[in-house]
Order: sequence, then C-alpha cells, then structure tokens
Amino acid sequence: MQVTVPFQDLTLPAEVEREIQKSVEHVLHSRYYILGPEVELFEKEFAAYLGVRRVVAVASGTDAISLALLASGVVRPGAEVIVPALTSPFTAVAVLRAGAQPVFADVNRDTWTLDPASAAACVTDRTVALLPVHLYGNPADWDGLALLAANRGLVLVEDACQAHGAFFRGVRVGGLGTAAAFSFYPTKNLGAAGDGGAIATNDEPLAARCLHLRNGAQIRRYVHDQPVFHSRLDEVQAALLRVKLRCLDSWNEQRNRLCRRYREKLPHCLFPQLAPGAVPAAHLAVICLAQRDPLRAHLSQRGVETLIHYPVPLHRMPAFASCPAAPCPDAEKICEQLLSLPLHLSLSDELQDIVVRSIREFVPGK
Ligand SMILES: Cc1ncc(COP(=O)(O)O)c(C=O)c1O
Repeated sequence: MQVTVPFQDLTLPAEVEREIQKSVEHVLHSRYYILGPEVELFEKEFAAYLGVRRVVAVASGTDAISLALLASGVVRPGAEVIVPALTSPFTAVAVLRAGAQPVFADVNRDTWTLDPASAAACVTDRTVALLPVHLYGNPADWDGLALLAANRGLVLVEDACQAHGAFFRGVRVGGLGTAAAFSFYPTKNLGAAGDGGAIATNDEPLAARCLHLRNGAQIRRYVHDQPVFHSRLDEVQAALLRVKLRCLDSWNEQRNRLCRRYREKLPHCLFPQLAPGAVPAAHLAVICLAQRDPLRAHLSQRGVETLIHYPVPLHRMPAFASCPAAPCPDAEKICEQLLSLPLHLSLSDELQDIVVRSIREFVPGK
C-alpha cells in the first residue's frame, strides 16, 4: 500500500495539546476575550524572546505590516515602499492598505530575498521604506539592505511573517529594522488556532502609535482621532501562543535539521543559499528545478504532496498590475521552477526518505 506524505501536519505533542487546552479553558472561564492579560503577557514574553523592547499584538500579519508602516510615520500620498517580487501577495496588499505604493524589486538569485542592487535601482524621491521579507525562514541579506537604507534615509520594515526565531549576525529577526511584522497564521512556525499577528520594535514611540492604531485610534471610549481599521488579538489565541512560544526553539531546530537533511540528500537540487551571518528558522523547504511541473506530477503519483510558494511573481500578478517594478528576471525564473516539499514536525526521517527517493527517481543517475 502506498504511503502518503502530507505537505502539512499540525498535530502537536500530546503534552503541549493538554497545556493548550488548560490555558484556553482558563480564558473561557475568565470571560475576558479581547486584549486582556494573556495578550499583555504574550507581548512581554515574545518581546523577551526576540530581544526587542516592545511587541504589539494584532489580528494578522498583513495588519502588522500595514500598522508598522503607518506607525513609522512615513506614509503620505504617493509614498513608495520597495517590496521583493517573490513573496506572499499579502506583503504588497499590506502596503496598499497602508495607503502607500508597492514597487517591486528583484530577488538575489542565490538567496531569493530582496536584492540590494535591484532595490537601489528602484529608489526615487518618493521612496520612503524598504520591506524585505525573510522568505521561507531565511533572513534577508541585511548588510546590503541596511547600507542602502542608511545611504538613502529609508525606513526598514521587516516582513518576518515566515521567520519567527531566525537570527542575522546574532540578532533575532524582528530586531533588525525600525519595526517588524510577524504572522501567527496556523501553519507558521509559531501558529495560532486562527489568525493573529504582531509588530516588534525597539522604538517606544512607534510602539505607542501601534497600540493606539490597533484599537481603531480611540483616544477614549468611542472617541477616535483617525479613521483607521482596528486589529486586535484575542485572549484565546494569546494563551495558546504563550504555550507554543516555549517550544519554538526546539521546533525550529527540528525543522532546520529536516531542511539540512533535504540539502544533504538532494545535492542536485537548487536550494536558496543563506546570506552570510544568517541562521534560519526553516519554515518552508523549497527547491528549484527546471522540470518542476513534471516532477510535481511524479511526486503526486508517489503520494508526496507539494505546494508552490509562489507561482506568480508579484509584478506579474493581476492585483498589482498598476504598481511599478524593476526588471525581475531572477524572481520570474525562480517562480517557474520552485517547489515546496513537505516540512513539519510529524515528518519522520522515514517519511522524508520517501520524498527524497521519489525525487531521485525522477532525476536518474543522481
Ligand atoms: C511573507 C508573508 N507576509 C505576509 C503574510 C500575511 O500574514 P497573514 O496571513 O497573517 O495576514 C504572510 C502569511 O500569509 C507571509 O507569509
């Protein structure tokens, strides 16, 4: 009988499951459901974990990006924010919703993250910020981007929605830029049982502006000083995230080990390279292969589930047709060839070996 290797499996260790149930029950009995003590504790604990001064919890990663940009005070009509062409579409959606214009730059062909040279070519007198993405859990090439931001006076907001716990030169991502955005979408390395997100920053006034904005800019009950959306994390999600946060480093280590194992056993496949100084928190295991679609069909026949993150570069996406873009040949080529392999905490070495064997069958002689 053929074994199926699922792309994703969100099963938790039984003792973690029990702890979550206890803490969720506690919240239900407390009758305190939105922005209460659990959210406050989670914000403090996640800030300590990241090594930043402040964390502000919100309703999603998309909201976290929008609010980080709004709170950084640089968004004005026509303001441009440089975004890599290879990322989740929600990175660009968040920029548009903040009232700014995304401008797409190419990714580096080795790291697959925002290329400092392509970003530099996109800078105009309307550019206010860079929004690099720590894609698949791999920190972006921060040295080049920080230099560009410093030289051109730009704000740096990190899209850390896929990289909870990764490091760049000994600093956790989330503490590198002016502000950073995290997502707690259920499949993330630190995932909620629903939507959730957070802004991390070392800038206290920026954090205070995020706190104000996330509650719809209320100055006192039902009196608002700006017409903004609200974005709040609920107590159930915060209680659950507090339990999972305590496991995050060990879970990241398991995911990093599986990713290293893919790299070792598939030397003929192209993987994104790590920027110098980057330590990943592997979120997705992605390879690049010229015959991606036939390989995917072959893996499916062998019971191996795969996904594509992401099939269309953002500058080719109908939703962003009116946004300016640099030439993005590397993002285009990578999007045509990339394939995400199963990576989760229930992936045993035996199941992973089925994936590896199936790929090797497809590329004979390797
Ligand atoms: C890189 C990236 N940016 C932004 C987002 C948006 O996060 P959310 O789905 O929590 O709004 C995601 C997750 O989907 C993501 O992976």
